[in-house]
Amino acid sequence: MSRPVFAIGLSIALAGIVPTASDAREPAENPAQTPAEIARLEYEQVMALTPDPENGRRVYLTCAVCHRPEGWGAPDGSYPQIAGQLRPVIIKQLADIRARNRDNPLMYPFSVPRILGGPQSVADVAAYVAQLPMTPDNGVGPGVDLALGQEVYAEHCAKCHGENGEGNEAEHIPAIAGQHYLYLMRQFDAIRTGRRKNSDPKMVKQIDGFTPRHQAAVLDYTARLRPPASKLAERGWTNPDFPAYVRDPMGVPPMPPMPAGLMDAPPPPEPPAYPSVPPAPR
Ligand code: HEC
Ligand code: HEC
Repeated sequence: MSRPVFAIGLSIALAGIVPTASDAREPAENPAQTPAEIARLEYEQVMALTPDPENGRRVYLTCAVCHRPEGWGAPDGSYPQIAGQLRPVIIKQLADIRARNRDNPLMYPFSVPRILGGPQSVADVAAYVAQLPMTPDNGVGPGVDLALGQEVYAEHCAKCHGENGEGNEAEHIPAIAGQHYLYLMRQFDAIRTGRRKNSDPKMVKQIDGFTPRHQAAVLDYTARLRPPASKLAERGWTNPDFPAYVRDPMGVPPMPPMPAGLMDAPPPPEPPAYPSVPPAPR
Protein backbone atom coordinates (compact mmCIF):
# COMPACT_ATOMS: atom_id res chain seq x y z
CA MET A 1 0.00 0.00 0.00
CA SER A 2 1.57 3.34 -1.02
CA ARG A 3 1.76 6.05 1.61
CA PRO A 4 -0.92 8.51 0.37
CA VAL A 5 -3.51 5.75 0.04
CA PHE A 6 -2.64 4.52 3.51
CA ALA A 7 -3.01 8.06 4.90
CA ILE A 8 -6.47 8.40 3.34
CA GLY A 9 -7.45 4.99 4.68
CA LEU A 10 -6.28 5.97 8.15
CA SER A 11 -8.17 9.26 8.18
CA ILE A 12 -11.36 7.53 7.02
CA ALA A 13 -10.94 4.98 9.78
CA LEU A 14 -10.32 7.68 12.38
CA ALA A 15 -13.24 9.79 11.20
CA GLY A 16 -15.51 7.00 12.32
CA ILE A 17 -14.07 6.93 15.83
CA VAL A 18 -12.74 10.36 16.73
CA PRO A 19 -15.35 13.13 16.76
CA THR A 20 -14.02 16.31 15.18
CA ALA A 21 -14.88 19.80 16.38
CA SER A 22 -16.84 20.57 13.20
CA ASP A 23 -19.49 17.89 13.56
CA ALA A 24 -20.24 18.83 17.16
CA ARG A 25 -22.55 21.60 15.81
CA GLU A 26 -23.47 21.69 12.17
CA PRO A 27 -24.82 25.11 11.08
CA ALA A 28 -28.08 23.50 9.91
CA GLU A 29 -28.70 22.19 13.43
CA ASN A 30 -28.23 25.57 15.02
CA PRO A 31 -31.63 27.29 15.01
CA ALA A 32 -30.00 30.73 15.23
CA GLN A 33 -28.49 30.10 11.80
CA THR A 34 -31.40 28.80 9.75
CA PRO A 35 -32.63 31.27 7.12
CA ALA A 36 -36.01 31.46 8.87
CA GLU A 37 -34.41 32.37 12.18
CA ILE A 38 -31.97 34.89 10.69
CA ALA A 39 -34.94 36.55 8.98
CA ARG A 40 -37.04 36.53 12.16
CA LEU A 41 -34.26 38.21 14.14
CA GLU A 42 -33.80 40.90 11.50
CA TYR A 43 -37.58 41.45 11.32
CA GLU A 44 -37.69 42.13 15.06
CA GLN A 45 -34.67 44.41 14.89
CA VAL A 46 -36.17 46.45 12.02
CA MET A 47 -39.60 46.70 13.65
CA ALA A 48 -38.01 48.39 16.69
CA LEU A 49 -36.47 51.22 14.58
CA THR A 50 -37.94 54.61 13.71
CA PRO A 51 -38.02 54.99 9.92
CA ASP A 52 -36.53 57.97 8.09
CA PRO A 53 -38.75 58.53 5.01
CA GLU A 54 -36.18 60.76 3.29
CA ASN A 55 -33.60 57.97 3.31
CA GLY A 56 -36.38 55.57 2.30
CA ARG A 57 -36.93 57.59 -0.86
CA ARG A 58 -33.22 57.47 -1.64
CA VAL A 59 -33.02 53.69 -1.09
CA TYR A 60 -36.16 53.21 -3.21
CA LEU A 61 -34.31 54.35 -6.32
CA THR A 62 -32.86 50.81 -6.58
CA CYS A 63 -36.28 49.22 -6.26
CA ALA A 64 -37.87 51.56 -8.82
CA VAL A 65 -36.03 49.83 -11.67
CA CYS A 66 -38.22 46.75 -11.25
CA HIS A 67 -41.21 47.81 -9.13
CA ARG A 68 -41.50 51.13 -11.07
CA PRO A 69 -41.26 54.59 -9.45
CA GLU A 70 -44.90 54.27 -8.33
CA GLY A 71 -44.37 50.80 -6.79
CA TRP A 72 -47.13 49.46 -9.02
CA GLY A 73 -45.13 46.59 -10.55
CA ALA A 74 -46.48 45.23 -13.85
CA PRO A 75 -50.03 44.06 -14.67
CA ASP A 76 -48.53 40.91 -16.27
CA GLY A 77 -47.51 39.89 -12.75
CA SER A 78 -43.78 39.73 -13.46
CA TYR A 79 -43.27 42.36 -10.74
CA PRO A 80 -45.73 42.68 -7.86
CA GLN A 81 -47.35 45.89 -6.81
CA ILE A 82 -45.72 46.78 -3.50
CA ALA A 83 -47.20 50.29 -3.10
CA GLY A 84 -49.54 50.45 -0.14
CA GLN A 85 -48.53 47.03 1.23
CA LEU A 86 -48.54 46.89 5.04
CA ARG A 87 -45.20 48.00 6.48
CA PRO A 88 -44.61 44.84 8.60
CA VAL A 89 -45.30 42.68 5.53
CA ILE A 90 -42.73 44.57 3.44
CA ILE A 91 -40.18 44.25 6.24
CA LYS A 92 -40.84 40.53 6.65
CA GLN A 93 -40.58 39.85 2.91
CA LEU A 94 -37.32 41.84 2.61
CA ALA A 95 -35.83 40.02 5.61
CA ASP A 96 -36.98 36.65 4.23
CA ILE A 97 -35.67 37.36 0.74
CA ARG A 98 -32.22 38.43 1.89
CA ALA A 99 -31.92 35.56 4.36
CA ARG A 100 -32.97 33.25 1.49
CA ASN A 101 -36.03 32.19 3.42
CA ARG A 102 -37.97 33.13 0.27
CA ASP A 103 -36.33 32.44 -3.09
CA ASN A 104 -36.21 35.50 -5.33
CA PRO A 105 -33.16 35.12 -7.56
CA LEU A 106 -33.97 38.29 -9.52
CA MET A 107 -34.22 40.59 -6.51
CA TYR A 108 -31.79 38.85 -4.16
CA PRO A 109 -28.65 40.71 -5.33
CA PHE A 110 -30.38 44.06 -4.70
CA SER A 111 -31.53 43.05 -1.24
CA VAL A 112 -28.15 42.26 0.32
CA PRO A 113 -26.84 44.68 2.97
CA ARG A 114 -24.01 45.93 0.73
CA ILE A 115 -26.59 47.31 -1.75
CA LEU A 116 -29.77 47.91 0.26
CA GLY A 117 -28.09 48.72 3.59
CA GLY A 118 -28.65 47.39 7.09
CA PRO A 119 -31.80 47.17 9.25
CA GLN A 120 -32.25 50.96 9.31
CA SER A 121 -32.43 51.11 5.50
CA VAL A 122 -34.96 48.26 5.49
CA ALA A 123 -37.09 50.22 7.99
CA ASP A 124 -36.77 53.37 5.87
CA VAL A 125 -37.61 51.87 2.48
CA ALA A 126 -40.50 49.83 3.91
CA ALA A 127 -42.07 52.97 5.36
CA TYR A 128 -41.61 54.76 2.04
CA VAL A 129 -43.22 51.94 0.03
CA ALA A 130 -46.13 51.49 2.47
CA GLN A 131 -47.26 55.12 2.03
CA LEU A 132 -47.23 55.05 -1.82
CA PRO A 133 -50.76 55.16 -3.28
CA MET A 134 -51.86 52.04 -5.18
CA THR A 135 -52.70 51.68 -8.87
CA PRO A 136 -56.40 51.88 -9.78
CA ASP A 137 -55.63 49.68 -12.85
CA ASN A 138 -54.10 46.47 -11.54
CA GLY A 139 -54.20 43.30 -13.65
CA VAL A 140 -57.34 41.18 -13.16
CA GLY A 141 -58.54 37.77 -14.41
CA PRO A 142 -61.15 36.81 -17.00
CA GLY A 143 -64.08 37.80 -14.74
CA VAL A 144 -66.17 34.73 -15.58
CA ASP A 145 -66.44 33.06 -12.16
CA LEU A 146 -66.71 35.87 -9.64
CA ALA A 147 -69.69 34.51 -7.69
CA LEU A 148 -67.75 31.34 -6.94
CA GLY A 149 -64.70 33.47 -6.14
CA GLN A 150 -66.63 35.49 -3.59
CA GLU A 151 -67.93 32.34 -1.91
CA VAL A 152 -64.49 30.74 -1.74
CA TYR A 153 -62.94 33.96 -0.46
CA ALA A 154 -65.45 34.31 2.38
CA GLU A 155 -65.04 30.71 3.43
CA HIS A 156 -61.28 30.21 3.07
CA CYS A 157 -59.43 33.54 3.04
CA ALA A 158 -61.30 36.30 4.87
CA LYS A 159 -60.45 35.12 8.38
CA CYS A 160 -56.74 35.75 7.73
CA HIS A 161 -56.51 38.27 4.86
CA GLY A 162 -59.56 40.29 6.02
CA GLU A 163 -63.09 40.74 4.59
CA ASN A 164 -61.76 43.15 1.96
CA GLY A 165 -58.27 41.71 1.43
CA GLU A 166 -56.74 44.39 3.64
CA GLY A 167 -54.34 42.01 5.43
CA ASN A 168 -53.30 42.20 9.06
CA GLU A 169 -50.46 44.38 10.42
CA ALA A 170 -50.02 42.60 13.75
CA GLU A 171 -49.77 39.16 12.12
CA HIS A 172 -47.88 40.48 9.07
CA ILE A 173 -50.46 38.89 6.77
CA PRO A 174 -50.23 40.50 3.30
CA ALA A 175 -52.89 42.82 1.91
CA ILE A 176 -53.94 41.09 -1.32
CA ALA A 177 -56.79 43.32 -2.56
CA GLY A 178 -55.89 45.03 -5.84
CA GLN A 179 -52.75 42.93 -6.43
CA HIS A 180 -52.09 41.83 -10.03
CA TYR A 181 -54.03 38.64 -10.79
CA LEU A 182 -51.11 36.88 -12.47
CA TYR A 183 -48.83 37.62 -9.52
CA LEU A 184 -51.45 36.22 -7.14
CA MET A 185 -51.65 33.09 -9.32
CA ARG A 186 -47.86 32.62 -9.22
CA GLN A 187 -47.64 33.08 -5.44
CA PHE A 188 -50.63 30.82 -4.82
CA ASP A 189 -48.98 28.07 -6.89
CA ALA A 190 -45.68 28.58 -5.04
CA ILE A 191 -47.45 28.39 -1.67
CA ARG A 192 -49.56 25.35 -2.62
CA THR A 193 -46.59 23.37 -3.94
CA GLY A 194 -44.24 24.37 -1.11
CA ARG A 195 -41.91 26.30 -3.41
CA ARG A 196 -42.42 29.44 -1.32
CA LYS A 197 -40.49 28.57 1.82
CA ASN A 198 -41.87 31.35 4.02
CA SER A 199 -45.53 30.49 3.45
CA ASP A 200 -47.93 30.03 6.34
CA PRO A 201 -48.47 26.28 7.02
CA LYS A 202 -52.05 27.02 8.09
CA MET A 203 -52.75 28.62 4.72
CA VAL A 204 -51.16 25.66 2.91
CA LYS A 205 -53.57 23.37 4.76
CA GLN A 206 -56.52 25.66 4.08
CA ILE A 207 -56.00 25.60 0.30
CA ASP A 208 -55.17 21.90 0.05
CA GLY A 209 -57.41 20.31 -2.59
CA PHE A 210 -58.37 23.53 -4.38
CA THR A 211 -59.17 22.82 -8.04
CA PRO A 212 -57.72 25.10 -10.73
CA ARG A 213 -61.24 26.53 -11.12
CA HIS A 214 -61.48 27.43 -7.42
CA GLN A 215 -58.01 28.99 -7.48
CA ALA A 216 -58.63 31.11 -10.57
CA ALA A 217 -62.05 32.19 -9.30
CA VAL A 218 -60.89 33.28 -5.85
CA LEU A 219 -57.81 35.08 -7.13
CA ASP A 220 -59.76 36.94 -9.83
CA TYR A 221 -62.17 38.00 -7.09
CA THR A 222 -59.23 39.06 -4.87
CA ALA A 223 -57.57 41.11 -7.62
CA ARG A 224 -60.90 42.94 -8.08
CA LEU A 225 -61.36 43.72 -4.37
CA ARG A 226 -60.93 47.51 -4.16
CA PRO A 227 -58.57 48.97 -1.57
CA PRO A 228 -60.16 51.93 0.28
CA ALA A 229 -60.27 55.11 -1.82
CA SER A 230 -57.75 56.76 0.51
CA LYS A 231 -55.13 54.20 -0.56
CA LEU A 232 -55.73 54.50 -4.32
CA ALA A 233 -53.95 56.91 -6.68
CA GLU A 234 -55.71 58.96 -9.34
CA ARG A 235 -55.56 57.29 -12.74
CA GLY A 236 -52.35 58.42 -14.48
CA TRP A 237 -50.60 59.55 -11.28
CA THR A 238 -46.82 59.59 -11.49
CA ASN A 239 -44.56 59.67 -8.45
CA PRO A 240 -43.34 63.28 -8.04
CA ASP A 241 -40.36 62.01 -6.03
CA PHE A 242 -38.85 60.74 -9.28
CA PRO A 243 -39.50 63.54 -11.79
CA ALA A 244 -36.53 62.64 -14.00
CA TYR A 245 -37.50 58.97 -14.39
CA VAL A 246 -38.05 58.28 -18.10
CA ARG A 247 -41.24 56.33 -18.86
CA ASP A 248 -42.42 55.13 -22.24
CA PRO A 249 -45.94 54.06 -23.28
CA MET A 250 -45.20 50.37 -22.61
CA GLY A 251 -44.03 51.19 -19.11
CA VAL A 252 -40.52 50.07 -19.96
CA PRO A 253 -37.75 52.64 -19.65
CA PRO A 254 -35.98 53.16 -22.99
CA MET A 255 -32.31 52.28 -23.35
CA PRO A 256 -30.04 55.21 -22.55
CA PRO A 257 -28.75 56.91 -25.73
CA MET A 258 -25.44 55.74 -27.17
CA PRO A 259 -22.59 57.98 -26.03
CA ALA A 260 -21.87 60.52 -28.78
CA GLY A 261 -19.18 59.49 -31.25
CA LEU A 262 -19.08 55.87 -30.12
CA MET A 263 -19.97 54.53 -33.55
CA ASP A 264 -17.46 56.64 -35.49
CA ALA A 265 -14.53 56.19 -33.15
CA PRO A 266 -11.33 54.94 -34.84
CA PRO A 267 -10.84 51.16 -34.71
CA PRO A 268 -9.01 49.94 -31.61
CA PRO A 269 -5.24 49.45 -32.06
CA GLU A 270 -3.88 46.03 -32.97
CA PRO A 271 -3.22 43.96 -29.84
CA PRO A 272 0.51 43.68 -29.03
CA ALA A 273 2.17 40.52 -30.29
CA TYR A 274 2.97 38.16 -27.42
CA PRO A 275 5.78 35.62 -27.68
CA SER A 276 4.45 32.26 -28.76
CA VAL A 277 3.48 29.78 -26.04
CA PRO A 278 6.48 27.64 -25.06
CA PRO A 279 6.07 23.94 -25.86
CA ALA A 280 4.64 21.85 -23.02
CA PRO A 281 7.36 20.23 -20.90
CA ARG A 282 7.68 16.53 -21.52
C1 HEC B 1 -34.27 43.19 -10.23
C2 HEC B 1 -35.66 43.46 -9.95
C3 HEC B 1 -36.05 43.83 -8.53
C4 HEC B 1 -35.52 44.80 -7.73
C5 HEC B 1 -34.36 45.74 -8.03
C6 HEC B 1 -36.30 44.78 -6.52
N1 HEC B 1 -37.27 43.83 -6.60
FE1 HEC B 1 -38.66 43.41 -5.16
N2 HEC B 1 -39.34 41.84 -6.27
C7 HEC B 1 -38.93 41.53 -7.55
C8 HEC B 1 -39.66 40.36 -8.01
C9 HEC B 1 -39.51 39.68 -9.36
C10 HEC B 1 -40.53 39.99 -6.96
C11 HEC B 1 -41.51 38.82 -6.96
C12 HEC B 1 -40.78 37.52 -6.88
C13 HEC B 1 -41.69 36.32 -6.84
O1 HEC B 1 -42.42 36.10 -7.80
O2 HEC B 1 -41.74 35.64 -5.80
C14 HEC B 1 -40.30 40.95 -5.89
C15 HEC B 1 -40.96 40.91 -4.66
C16 HEC B 1 -40.88 41.91 -3.70
C17 HEC B 1 -41.66 41.94 -2.49
C18 HEC B 1 -42.71 40.93 -2.06
C19 HEC B 1 -44.03 41.40 -2.53
C20 HEC B 1 -45.15 40.49 -2.16
O3 HEC B 1 -46.26 41.00 -1.94
O4 HEC B 1 -44.98 39.28 -2.11
C21 HEC B 1 -41.32 43.09 -1.82
C22 HEC B 1 -41.89 43.60 -0.51
C23 HEC B 1 -40.30 43.75 -2.62
N3 HEC B 1 -40.05 43.00 -3.75
C24 HEC B 1 -39.70 44.94 -2.27
C25 HEC B 1 -38.58 45.47 -2.92
C26 HEC B 1 -37.82 46.61 -2.44
C27 HEC B 1 -38.17 47.43 -1.21
C28 HEC B 1 -36.78 46.77 -3.31
C29 HEC B 1 -35.64 47.78 -3.23
C30 HEC B 1 -34.82 47.70 -2.06
C31 HEC B 1 -36.91 45.76 -4.36
N4 HEC B 1 -38.01 44.99 -4.07
C32 HEC B 1 -36.06 45.62 -5.44
C33 HEC B 1 -37.96 42.20 -8.28
C34 HEC B 1 -37.15 43.22 -7.81
C1 HEC C 1 -54.42 30.84 8.25
C2 HEC C 1 -54.31 32.11 7.65
C3 HEC C 1 -54.40 32.21 6.14
C4 HEC C 1 -55.42 31.75 5.31
C5 HEC C 1 -56.66 30.99 5.70
C6 HEC C 1 -55.06 32.18 3.99
N1 HEC C 1 -53.87 32.83 3.99
FE1 HEC C 1 -52.91 33.59 2.39
N2 HEC C 1 -51.32 34.07 3.54
C7 HEC C 1 -51.27 33.98 4.92
C8 HEC C 1 -49.99 34.48 5.40
C9 HEC C 1 -49.55 34.58 6.85
C10 HEC C 1 -49.25 34.86 4.24
C11 HEC C 1 -47.83 35.43 4.22
C12 HEC C 1 -46.78 34.43 4.54
C13 HEC C 1 -45.41 35.08 4.55
O1 HEC C 1 -44.81 35.22 3.48
O2 HEC C 1 -44.99 35.52 5.59
C14 HEC C 1 -50.13 34.60 3.10
C15 HEC C 1 -49.78 34.86 1.78
C16 HEC C 1 -50.66 34.82 0.72
C17 HEC C 1 -50.36 35.25 -0.63
C18 HEC C 1 -49.06 35.85 -1.09
C19 HEC C 1 -49.20 37.35 -1.01
C20 HEC C 1 -47.99 38.13 -1.38
O3 HEC C 1 -48.11 39.36 -1.41
O4 HEC C 1 -46.94 37.57 -1.63
C21 HEC C 1 -51.50 35.08 -1.37
C22 HEC C 1 -51.69 35.40 -2.83
C23 HEC C 1 -52.50 34.53 -0.48
N3 HEC C 1 -51.95 34.37 0.78
C24 HEC C 1 -53.80 34.25 -0.87
C25 HEC C 1 -54.71 33.59 -0.06
C26 HEC C 1 -56.02 33.20 -0.51
C27 HEC C 1 -56.62 33.52 -1.86
C28 HEC C 1 -56.59 32.51 0.53
C29 HEC C 1 -57.93 31.82 0.54
C30 HEC C 1 -58.14 30.84 -0.49
C31 HEC C 1 -55.64 32.51 1.63
N4 HEC C 1 -54.51 33.17 1.23
C32 HEC C 1 -55.85 31.94 2.87
C33 HEC C 1 -52.27 33.48 5.73
C34 HEC C 1 -53.44 32.90 5.29
